[in-house]
Amino acid sequence: MRMRGRRLLPIILSLLLIVLLSLCYFSGHLRDLKELRNSPDEEFLLHLPPETEEDSPNPHPQAANPLLNLTDFQYLLHSNVCRKAERELLAILIVTSYSGHDALRAAHRQAIPRSKLAEMGLQRVFLLAALPPREHFINQEQLASEQKRFGDLLQGNFIEDYRNLSYKHVMGLKWASQECKNQAKFIIKLDDDIIYDVFHLRRYLEALEVGQPGLATSSTLLSGYVLDSKPPIRLRANKWYVSKQEYPHALYPAYLSGWLYVTNVPTAKRIVAEAERVPLFWIDDTWLTGVVRTRLGIPLERHNDWFSANAEFIDCCVRDLKQHGYECEYSVGPNGGDDRLLVEFLHNVEKCYFDECVKRPAGKSLKETCVAAAKSRAPEHGLAEIKPLRLR
Ligand SMILES: *[C@@H]1O[C@H](CO)[C@@H](O)[C@H](O)[C@H]1NC(C)=O
Ligand SMILES: *[C@@H]1O[C@H](CO)[C@@H](O)[C@H](O)[C@H]1NC(C)=O
Repeated sequence: MRMRGRRLLPIILSLLLIVLLSLCYFSGHLRDLKELRNSPDEEFLLHLPPETEEDSPNPHPQAANPLLNLTDFQYLLHSNVCRKAERELLAILIVTSYSGHDALRAAHRQAIPRSKLAEMGLQRVFLLAALPPREHFINQEQLASEQKRFGDLLQGNFIEDYRNLSYKHVMGLKWASQECKNQAKFIIKLDDDIIYDVFHLRRYLEALEVGQPGLATSSTLLSGYVLDSKPPIRLRANKWYVSKQEYPHALYPAYLSGWLYVTNVPTAKRIVAEAERVPLFWIDDTWLTGVVRTRLGIPLERHNDWFSANAEFIDCCVRDLKQHGYECEYSVGPNGGDDRLLVEFLHNVEKCYFDECVKRPAGKSLKETCVAAAKSRAPEHGLAEIKPLRLR
């Protein structure tokens, strides 16, 4: 026995060595594969097997991949509005919404119901997170019943907080680029407290498809309100205070306001993949359309003329649309805390797309006719000038 054992020992040792070596080799190889898969260079991906989760026949995947560094990420509510869409979609609207804003979501649905969106080739989901413990006005059962009625909620299991908005934003882009990749030509990202002229956006997208088909289908489409070289807020008392640790540089790269911007599936895919590789920064629009975008070398399409930073202007627009049928100069603006303004705005602006509106006469611009109201309500807004820092 002892003799045999002694003769066997070198054999066992070398076998062990072989096993160890091959383990090392394969794990390294696996890592390479993973890195390749995360690479933005799509050519590398072509001969790799598809991501299992992406093409799974299960229409209600509850668990998704980890989301950024949230390893236990999963959906609490999952929407299949894209898979259910009967025809190709012009765009999917992903609307960042605080989960407690059920009244505001109701206003969105009343302003333009799903059936009407569908006629325009559009669908909409609201991006939610988990209710924080301090939230006493709404509970998860109510959200579940809202989902049962409308099916348009996408809720992640991370907790609602403005410092968690980057997770929500990436969740929306990732979901849209996976779930809507065969259906939607464009992705429109917006916030729930934003007034937006959906008819104008539809015209813009249709014109983009025809006029700039290269850009429309490219992996470099980012279009919206461009904020150039803004410095981080370094005042501790400010809600948007950013420490040097969080962001060391003096200026942000140019980025798009998260109020509303337009992208498409190939672009969103690249942004999500790159976001998974770089350190997270909590100011979501600055991070994704600024820091992450810059690393990918994607240029921004500037449409600053669509935007008003002034909720009063949108109010005046509605008034003038009703009274005189004047066209509104702006297509996007804040709701100023008025949940119903979107309903009023969309119900009145629609007629302009049936040529029932007239150009605002000279001398009656919003800047001139709206100033008094704007001044009396919020002096710091001043005149028509857009205050870029408010645009986030
Ligand atoms: C994820 O990264 C952020 C930013 O670096 C950090 O603050 C957070 O604690 C991390 N979360 C987890 C679950 O690791
Ligand atoms: C963000 O979400 C994570 C995961 O749910 C949670 O642990 C964290 O407390 C949230 N962050 C803030 C600032 O609430």
